[in-house]
Amino acid sequence: MADKKATLSIGKESWEFPIYGSTLGPEVVDISSLYTRSGRFTYDPGFTSTASCDSDITYIDGDVGILLHRGYPIEQLAEHGDFLETCYLLLYGELPNKAQKADFDYRVTHHTMLHEQMSRFFTGFRRDAHPMAIMVGVVGALSAFYHDSTDISDPHQRMVASLRMIAKMPTIAAMAYKYHIGQPFVYPKNDLDYAANFLRMCFAVPCEEYKPEPVLARAMDRIFILHADHEQNASTSTVRLAGSSGANPFACTAAGIACLWGPAHGGANEAALNMLQEIGTPDRIPEFIERAKDKDDPFRLMGFGHRVYKNYDPRAKIMQKTTHEVLAELGNRGDPLLDVAMELEKIALTDEYFIEKKLYPNIDFYSGITLKALGFPTTMFTVLFSLARTVGWIAQWKEMIEDPKQRIGRPRQLYNGEVQRDYVPLTKRG
Ligand code: SDX
Repeated sequence: MADKKATLSIGKESWEFPIYGSTLGPEVVDISSLYTRSGRFTYDPGFTSTASCDSDITYIDGDVGILLHRGYPIEQLAEHGDFLETCYLLLYGELPNKAQKADFDYRVTHHTMLHEQMSRFFTGFRRDAHPMAIMVGVVGALSAFYHDSTDISDPHQRMVASLRMIAKMPTIAAMAYKYHIGQPFVYPKNDLDYAANFLRMCFAVPCEEYKPEPVLARAMDRIFILHADHEQNASTSTVRLAGSSGANPFACTAAGIACLWGPAHGGANEAALNMLQEIGTPDRIPEFIERAKDKDDPFRLMGFGHRVYKNYDPRAKIMQKTTHEVLAELGNRGDPLLDVAMELEKIALTDEYFIEKKLYPNIDFYSGITLKALGFPTTMFTVLFSLARTVGWIAQWKEMIEDPKQRIGRPRQLYNGEVQRDYVPLTKRG
């Protein structure tokens, strides 16, 4: 409930609005009645000062570099937990006990297979189609095959759809990869854990068995944890807005994948690795730093900067540590891209421009090096991000659907177009 009020005065008129407190982070001013009472809208393109909802799932303190999932720091979840435990936490609000975890793991594991008919979807794509294009198409098509879990008013169907999404994304992502490289699909195996199963579906071939290295499977699982959820980012806001119309969760997830693809968002991991490859050697770093600072040059340092983090992205620190572990395990410590990345980070963090604009490495800066070391092509990087983020989208969608205050999202605008004018027949136009 509101215990404080904000007053807005325009000329001789003034209006009071309730202020709601939070458990962490900024309080909010409820301006939902502003238009009906004052005939005016607020104006906030990019939503830099706008809370679109109230949520209990994830909290970010961008100034300090803190990320909590249901109150638990990302560092502790990444260190001590696994991805499916994080999925349970995001969906249900508490860490599972032994029985709950075993049951959740069992249910996800037994939803990993895809309707056999769906494998035909892939043959409609060119082999060189970007795997993200395939993901948008195939995930959107899930509602054509699993219509028995599309009634969003039924809690049971919402639960089944959520499990299906989390369980099937690795299978679909691996199939997109296999199709892209012209190899046969590999079915999931129920005796493998989530990350190991995914690595095997990507890298096993019919002619020999593939046993995922435990260190690499653990690194993959941790990368999934780091990408699981992140408050009201662009793709999550897309999923919430799509869901607010009553669209089914498969269609909403496809909308989230489409939004995540952008290089300013989830596509930055692919763009960051391409940038490191373009820089090539540490001696070329100053040239790119200057380009990033040049207002007339559209080039940006990919993997740097963030709308919320004005300090180091806590996920990037864990990602960097994981990068070193994976490279050590694979014996290619000397990956020249890592040398370029470390040197670039060192230079950027001491450069006046980056300090003034509070630009730090974000989750996408190191992830590309790790994923490349694990054997993935750059075109698969954002696919892996979407695989992991599916649980965040679904958890936020579930929270929205179950919110009694929920209504269709419908922003307004500041109109600067033509005032009303009459039609001019073609014969009378200049
Ligand atoms: C993700 O929201 C989330 O939570 C997203 C995410 C998640 O988990 O869901 O964390 C995942 O998307 C991480 C971000 C990945 N994107 C990139 O790494 C792309 C490069 N970064 C930028 O495009 C940018 O920093 C954004 C898009 C991330 C943030 O953009 P903002 O908040 O709109 O900031 P801005 O573009 O207004 O930049 C502020 C200033 C500008 O200079 P001025 O106009 O004030 O002079 O900083 C500059 C920008 O030019 N700037 C950069 C820069 N990022 C911002 N300059 C050089 N290189 C950069 N990377």
